[in-house]
Order: sequence, then C-alpha cells, then structure tokens
Amino acid sequence: MSNTIVVGAQWGDEGKGKIVDYLTENIDVVVRAAGGNNAGHTVINGGTKYILHLIPSGILWAGKKCVIGNGVVMDPLGLIEEMNKLRGQGVTIDPSNLMISETAHLVLPYHKALDLAREARLGDAKIGTTGRGIGPAYADKVERGGLRAVLLTKPETLASELRARIQWHNQTLASAGVALVDEEETVTKILAAAEILAPHVANTTVFLHEAVRAGKNMLFEGAQGTYLDIDHGTYPFVTSSSTTSGGACTGSGVPPRMIDKVVAVTKAYTTRVGSGPFVTENDAIGDMLHNMGREFGATTGRARRCGWLDTVLVRYAVMINGADELAITNLDGLDGLDTIKLCTSYTLHGKPLNHPPATATDLADCVPVYEEHKGWKQDLSGITRYEDLPALAKAYLNRVSELAGARISLVGIGPSRDQTLIA
Ligand code: GDP
Ligand code: IMO
Ligand code: MG
Repeated sequence: MSNTIVVGAQWGDEGKGKIVDYLTENIDVVVRAAGGNNAGHTVINGGTKYILHLIPSGILWAGKKCVIGNGVVMDPLGLIEEMNKLRGQGVTIDPSNLMISETAHLVLPYHKALDLAREARLGDAKIGTTGRGIGPAYADKVERGGLRAVLLTKPETLASELRARIQWHNQTLASAGVALVDEEETVTKILAAAEILAPHVANTTVFLHEAVRAGKNMLFEGAQGTYLDIDHGTYPFVTSSSTTSGGACTGSGVPPRMIDKVVAVTKAYTTRVGSGPFVTENDAIGDMLHNMGREFGATTGRARRCGWLDTVLVRYAVMINGADELAITNLDGLDGLDTIKLCTSYTLHGKPLNHPPATATDLADCVPVYEEHKGWKQDLSGITRYEDLPALAKAYLNRVSELAGARISLVGIGPSRDQTLIA
C-alpha cells in the first residue's frame, strides 16, 4: 500500500492533471478532496485532449476508482455536463468508477449568482474568481446553511431545502440589485440532475478505508495550488478551500498517518490567473508563452499572467505541504531563452526575506532577488530520458531542487503523458 498526495506549489495550473495521470498507472483509487469545478486539469494522451474539472483524472484509466470527496463543493449541473463531454470522448463513467461523497456540499445556481454579484461590487478590487460559485458555496458550508450530496438521494427533502435556500439567497441578490434565481426552474433542473447523480452518491470515507485495508494504492489529486489556499495563500486573493496537503485528509476522511508521500508540482516558471500580487511577473515571458499558444486557462480561457520561477514560494510550499518530491513541469517553456532568471529571495523595505510575508500588500512590495542561468536553447520536447537533457537544463533543475529543499522526481518536457522524464 502506498498513498500519495499531489499538490500544486504555486497558484494552480502547475500541471497537476498531467502528473496525476502519469502516476495513476500504479494506483487503484484517485481522490479529489478540495475545490470544485473552478479547477481545470488538462491531460493529453494518444493525441486526445481531456479537460477535467470535478472528476478525478484517474477516470481516463480503465479499472481505476475515482472519488469526489467530502471536501469538494460539487455543482450537479456542471458535473453532468462534464460527464457527458467525457463520455463523448469515449470515457466510461458509471457508479462503479465514479463515487461522490454523501457529505460533499452542492454548488447551486444561487452560489454562482452571488459570486458574480460580489465580484461586480468589488470592481477593481475583485478577486478574479472563476465565477463558478465556489466562495459562496464554501461560505454556506461554514455558515451551516449548505445542502449536501446525500440530498440527491432524497428528492422531497432536497426540493424543500432548496426552495428555502433559494428564497434566503434571493433576498441578498435583491438587495444587490441583480437578477433573482428562478425558484421553479432551479428546483426542476436540480431534481432532474439528482436522479442522474444519485447512484453515484456513497459513503466514500468507508470505501476509502476499505480500500486501504485491502492494500490498494491511493492518489489524492490536488486542485488549485498552495498560494490559493484559504489559510496559507495570498489572502484575500485565494480560493475558499484548503488546497494544501492537510486538505487531502480533512477532505476525504483518510487520516494523516495513512499518507506515505507528498509530491509538489511546480512549473519551471510561474503563472497566475486572477488578481493578486505576483513578485516575479514578467510580461515578456507572458508574451513569449502566449505567442506559443500556451498559458490560457483550462476553465475560463483567460490568459494566465506569467513570470520567472519564484523559489521563495516553492520552498515555503515544500515546507507546509511536507513535500518529499518535486515534479517540475513545462521545462520546455524555457527552451528559447538566452538567459533564465531564478528568484532566490526577496527584499521587503530594504530587508532580506526568505519566505512570503503575511499580507498581500507586503508581498506586492517585495522586490525579487534574481540569479541568472544560461539557457540551453534546445528543443527538449523529444527527449525520452532524463540523462539526455542538456547539461544547462540539468544545472537549472539541480539549482531549483537545492533552493526548494526537495528532490526532483519527474520532469515534464511536453503536455503528453509520454513527455515525462523520471529524474
Ligand atoms: P493543472 O490545473 O495543475 O492540472 O494544470 P492545467 O492543466 O490547468 O495547466 C497546465 C498546462 O500545461 C496544460 O495546458 C497542460 O497540458 C500543460 N502541461 C503540463 N505539463 C507540461 C509540460 O511539461 N510541457 C508542456 N509544454 N505543457 C505541459
Ligand atoms: P486548478 O486546479 C488557477 C483562482 C481564480 C481566482 C481565485 C479564486 O486548475 O489549478 P474561485 O473561483 O476559486 O473563487 O477563484 O483562484 N483559481 C485558480 N487558478 N487554477 C485553478 O485550479 C484555480 N481555481 C481557482 O482564478 O484568482
Ligand atoms: Mg488548471
């Protein structure tokens, strides 16, 4: 038995989907434990591109079990849309390979309306959310007014609780001066979705513990990234869940002592979607990557902000996630550069700083300290063995590993499953 957590070490979109897909070969159960369909995980295999939002990437492998854990907020309408899209691409999804925790909270149409209304009200100070209703759904959960997936199996209770919540949230929408959620239409749609999803609803915590007892291997597929974590991220420019390794335990019911390994995924550079401080942001790198057709969001299609690799962030992420290993993706994104900069520390108001400060304002005021590396100026995409990487690329990776404080286990040199090197 070996249970592994995969987390993002940056602001999301590190390539977790690709790494999880790669690691799934030797895994029996893949679990999502946090976030919702704000996530967009890209997996390219056999020339086909799959985008997963709520469904664990393990669904692309035959014979693997996938669990949407209790820590996830699940949009029933979004999930059905995703299931249909994947089925259209030839993926088998049924209650035997996709289970939804009874205690996962539902994302409902009023959450989306509240998310959009709040962002509009914030104006220039907006978070830049994905507009999927994630913040309001977690707010309902914490405020003890949420509806949970178990209700999908109890249509009468679902209908009455849903009506009460629609009426409750419509008061807020009315005071914000935005369109109300249509009660009849919403109840009809959600009841129809419940009929489709009810066979997938189960006590997934018991299932996971039985799997552990049977010696099965589990992989926890992180969503978002360390700096979008509600506690450890660049608050308030974060998402509303625990995206770090601890969240895998609370979001699944699998205790910490059953976890064997944590793999932190980071790009060879940095990206961020949405608002908030970004110390190493660099428009020239963004232009270069966007001109290559890269770094557009998998969920919203927004152009991602880009910059140099910030090892202050990666080092701190290794520490708080307890990462044993680093998976470095998108090394090939740096192929064309003469010089590559690596941020090793910050200065804040003239003083050196080796970890991110507590406030977004202070992080925005941090000045990066860079060291420069010579670029390898070579197309890496066809390389099949780590040993065959150019010496300059290996030197860059070794330095990243040294600064981050974790060994590198995997290196991505292209988006396909087979473009992954074992270090
Ligand atoms: P996730 O949310 O962490 O799963 O990451 P996304 O799928 O949102 O974004 C990562 C992007 O990088 C996707 O377009 C992937 O196909 C792509 N990708 C992942 N690893 C590599 C790599 O090593 N090289 C290249 N060129 N693309 C990669
Ligand atoms: P994956 O799993 C990148 C960002 C949004 C916004 C902030 C809050 O693909 O890495 P939310 O809709 O969650 O309330 O938005 O978080 N965000 C992500 N950025 N990748 C993600 O997921 C993200 N999920 C949320 O852009 O800045
Ligand atoms: Mg993504």
